Amino acid sequence: MRSFKNILVTGGAGFIGSHVVRRLTNKYPETNIVNLDLLTYAGNLENISDIEHSENYAFVKGNICDRDLLINLFKKHNFDAVVHLAAESHVDRSIANPGAFLETNILGTAALLEVAKAHWIHENGAFKNAETGSTNHNLKNVFYHISTDEVYGSLGEEGLFSETTSYDPRSPYSASKASSDHIARAYHHTYGMPIVISNCSNNYGANQFPEKLIPLMIKNICDQKSLPVYGQGLNVRDWLYVEDHANAIDLILHQGASGSTYNIGGLNEWSNIDLVKYLIQVVDEKLQRPKGSSDGLITFVKDRAGHDHRYAIDASKIERELGWKPSETFEVGLEKTVTWYLENSEWLNKVVSGEYEKYYEQHYGK
Ligand code: NAD
Ligand code: TYD
Repeated sequence: MRSFKNILVTGGAGFIGSHVVRRLTNKYPETNIVNLDLLTYAGNLENISDIEHSENYAFVKGNICDRDLLINLFKKHNFDAVVHLAAESHVDRSIANPGAFLETNILGTAALLEVAKAHWIHENGAFKNAETGSTNHNLKNVFYHISTDEVYGSLGEEGLFSETTSYDPRSPYSASKASSDHIARAYHHTYGMPIVISNCSNNYGANQFPEKLIPLMIKNICDQKSLPVYGQGLNVRDWLYVEDHANAIDLILHQGASGSTYNIGGLNEWSNIDLVKYLIQVVDEKLQRPKGSSDGLITFVKDRAGHDHRYAIDASKIERELGWKPSETFEVGLEKTVTWYLENSEWLNKVVSGEYEKYYEQHYGK
């Protein structure tokens, strides 16, 4: 197992990043964690307020596209690993306005790769070239790029995405993530840079911005607002509890083979309409409302442009090689998630208050 002295985490104020930063900070007290995040509408320091005074943790507000900032941070902290989660992450926003996705997800990742490569070669000498077939790459350093299963495109009724499935991204979001995966892999093959990549299915849990399906529906059921289901609600997603993803990221960072890709998934497929109905049951029960009282809120709306039909992950490689399996059942994970949102209505109101929306509009237009 590798160990690191100084890790740069990007996007650690967002949904998944906050769970990852908390885990790394608490579990590895000897490792310094620097969290670089631009605090866009999706980033919120309250997500990690419990660790802000930890001795081995520091926050830096900044843009991953800012090379000078990255160079200075590498000089100051001498990072030996990068865990890269910062991204624009919502498909609907990417359809409305792809520009920010291309900038952050593609150019930002390219900037991080370039600065990390230059710093590590300067500090530790050249990487061994991957083309020699040597597995003895320079493992003092790891650049870990966190990606999505959406790069593989859309499945029909059968089959699963594996690590060898051809890329076929179909939304501006997934195309931008596919581009960054390709650039990261190119740095491994061309320069022998030690890169690991994981492609994960849809996450759910505490602190997810209520634009994504599960927190949006929880919020609207509570507020008795309509529940917009795209098309017929027959699209299928494979849901994974965010703590299970954070655990997989921890394992891959410390034990993943250099140059490797790992698919991560929940073995937990739900059609959107079935999931929304299930959420209604759970939320209504928690709020002690009569059974079925929110059923009428379901509203079928115009389908998303280019809506991918089905995502489902074959996670056998990470199970075989690193012993990872999801540990939370969907029933319990969803119950915990609903409870978290009910107990954190202040957080919910703050993040949708428009403060973050204004930031987004100022920078990227409506
Ligand atoms: P999120 O939108 O909740 O958080 C993204 C974070 O990145 C925010 O804190 C934001 O402020 C920050 N950020 C955005 N642009 C930045 C920039 N230019 N510079 C610095 N920071 C910036 O996203 P998430 O759902 O937590 O996803 C995190 C990562 O995991 C992304 O790379 C995403 O593609 C990937 N992923 C997400 C899911 C999912 O279901 N949410 C599934 C698989 C993979
Ligand atoms: P989302 O949470 O945006 O994740 P992704 O598009 O990355 O899979 O959406 C999950 C599914 O839910 C997707 O099929 C689109 C659908 N959806 C709705 O039907 N209504 C909504 O309001 C949202 C946000 C999503």
